[in-house]
Amino acid sequence: MLRRAVYPGSFDPLTNGHLDIIHRAAEIVDELLVAVVCNPSKSPLFSLEERRQMLSECLRGLPNVRVDCFEGLLVDYMRVQQAGIIVKGLRAVSDFEVEFQMALMNRKLAPEVDTIFLMTSAKHAFLSSSSVKEVVKLGGQVSDMVPPYVEERLLKKFFSR
Ligand code: PNS
Repeated sequence: MLRRAVYPGSFDPLTNGHLDIIHRAAEIVDELLVAVVCNPSKSPLFSLEERRQMLSECLRGLPNVRVDCFEGLLVDYMRVQQAGIIVKGLRAVSDFEVEFQMALMNRKLAPEVDTIFLMTSAKHAFLSSSSVKEVVKLGGQVSDMVPPYVEERLLKKFFSR
């Protein structure tokens, strides 16, 4: 049976930490869906379409990875996609608590779905989309934290250049 997994997230924007998890997860499963959440109660820097498009651009060399969007409950999306595995990245103990709670809730809602966690590579342990946005906004360098295409889009967004 095809092992289809979903890596859900805001990806606002994609970082090298996300990329690392995507590459590693794609080695483990048959098909990986990178699913951008549409959360109307949040106001992301990049629109859903912009985030989806940046992911597609940066992941186009990976044959078993697809980019998609979803709204509502992750487990409902998992069922529609007939995917049995949620992939999550873990950076620090602080991530663990939130992720543990989400994994248990998702399992309660959909016992047939399991969550697997990949530990971040040490070099990305400090990385988050929000810190990347703040650094760029304040004039710092992020070229080794995000793919070049994302850096370009960030600079355009903040400074329209
Ligand atoms: O990149 P993020 O913002 O940490 O991703 C969070 C995400 C999208 C994985 C999480 O918010 C999510 O699963 N949202 C979908 C709504 C849902 O299913 N909520 C119940 C889980 S407790």
